[in-house]
Amino acid sequence: MARSTTVHVCSACAHETPRWAGQCPGCGEWNTLVEEARSAGRRGGRGGGALGGTARGGAAVAPVRLGAVEATEVARLPTAIGELDRVLGGGIVPGSLVLIGGSPGIGKSTLTTMAVANLTGAGRRTLYVSAEESPAQIKLRAERLRGAALDIPVIAETDLGAVLATLERERPDVCVIDSVQTLHAAELTGAPGSVGQVREVAGEIMRVAKQHRIAVLLVGHVTKEGALAGPRVLEHLVDCVLQFEGERERTYRTLRALKNRFGSTNEAGVFEMRGDGLVEVLDASARFVGEATHAPGSVVLCAMEGSRPLLVEVQALVSPAQELVPPRRVVSGIDRNRLALVLAVLARHGGVATGSADVFVNVVGGVRVDEPGADLAVALAVASAARGVALRGGAATVGDGRDGGALRGRGAGMGDGRDGGAPDLFAAGEGDGADGPAPGPPLACFGELGLTGELRTVAHPERRIAEAAKFGLSTIVGPDARTLRAALRAALPGRRRQQAA
Ligand code: TYD
Ligand code: MG
Repeated sequence: MARSTTVHVCSACAHETPRWAGQCPGCGEWNTLVEEARSAGRRGGRGGGALGGTARGGAAVAPVRLGAVEATEVARLPTAIGELDRVLGGGIVPGSLVLIGGSPGIGKSTLTTMAVANLTGAGRRTLYVSAEESPAQIKLRAERLRGAALDIPVIAETDLGAVLATLERERPDVCVIDSVQTLHAAELTGAPGSVGQVREVAGEIMRVAKQHRIAVLLVGHVTKEGALAGPRVLEHLVDCVLQFEGERERTYRTLRALKNRFGSTNEAGVFEMRGDGLVEVLDASARFVGEATHAPGSVVLCAMEGSRPLLVEVQALVSPAQELVPPRRVVSGIDRNRLALVLAVLARHGGVATGSADVFVNVVGGVRVDEPGADLAVALAVASAARGVALRGGAATVGDGRDGGALRGRGAGMGDGRDGGAPDLFAAGEGDGADGPAPGPPLACFGELGLTGELRTVAHPERRIAEAAKFGLSTIVGPDARTLRAALRAALPGRRRQQAA
């Protein structure tokens, strides 16, 4: 390898300096200098590399009209894990770089091991590079998994140079790098996992992988903030970014495509972590709503996981905050800011004020729903919890009119809702005893809340409704209700009774 030096490059203004400094001498930004390798006489155009020189002596290239480009449909390498293949867009594309991100312990090593085990069993050349675990530890995991996991060739190596040399010699079809943050480029002084290191490691691996058409599954840890470490430096470099999420203590995991050059980014797969590896969950809705309680504070959300509808139970708990302490907003499975928005709209346009209460919202089963269509479910769950009444389920209306898909079930006009936004949280007559779980299937809903209290349509209403109907949920409140107020009126049965009490 050519003699290499390192420089520190400002990620804001590209100013270069030989030594690291807290503040960029070029633009004055703080903490923007990132160490980069600069080897004399290395091939040009490496990702993030120098653009410095002018005359590079390259030969001119003749442009080709797009229509004349031969587009051969590449044969993909199916991992035989249906959910993973679907999220990838039909299997691994040869020579592609796939980044799999997720918090520690979520199952990234398990998923990648299972995928290469299947590929190994199918006769593909594979390689598992672990920079985190010893071969003995990898074997322990492999023994829990079925298939050809014990046939996977592994190396435990943290030095980037050694890994690159091994890749050049072995030239596998598919290789796992576990993880990009623990590999170490010797020519950089930065610690493994630092931005400079991560960029160098990924860039070099990509160079070798593209050269030999090696498909690489790059494992990456996410930071506390949930971003893939190395401030997005990898996301533009790789072909696919998959995010593996869920809560470690819970068994369900979702795999989402955040970026996919070879497929849709709308896809998501659901897995369950078992004693013998990850198992695909094909009947996810049944699992999640099978236990839906129909108690105050509970509602079923017709969510979309990519192109697939998914029913999940959203629960809320509203309880008086302690004095002198700011009220708490605790969420699991939804975005905190989204809850803040929903609570504000609820208070302003729905007459349910929770300003002085602790509010907890949980999506049951450790699922994450990251779509605006979840707003209404959060609003209804909170309203139901605040009032202490179960939402109106669908026992009496099973099989009821399939018209338009908005407001299923009876008496959408019950309660006039003209309370002018007066906070009636913890209204008199809250008695939970009388308001325990109501009989029959729970209420299902979906829709985005606008800031003016309107309900907005979301993608695929028919599929959401069909999924709910499949599970016997016949009372569905959707965007056709038009306003939050109307939705609350339709969903909350005991309003008038309560106000009278
Ligand atoms: P792992 O794949 O090592 O997570 P990551 O690489 O993302 O850090 O596995 C995470 C957890 O899953 C670990 O605590 C052990 C557990 N596990 C199972 O429950 N069943 C299994 O079959 C395996 C292999 C792991
Ligand atoms: Mg791991």
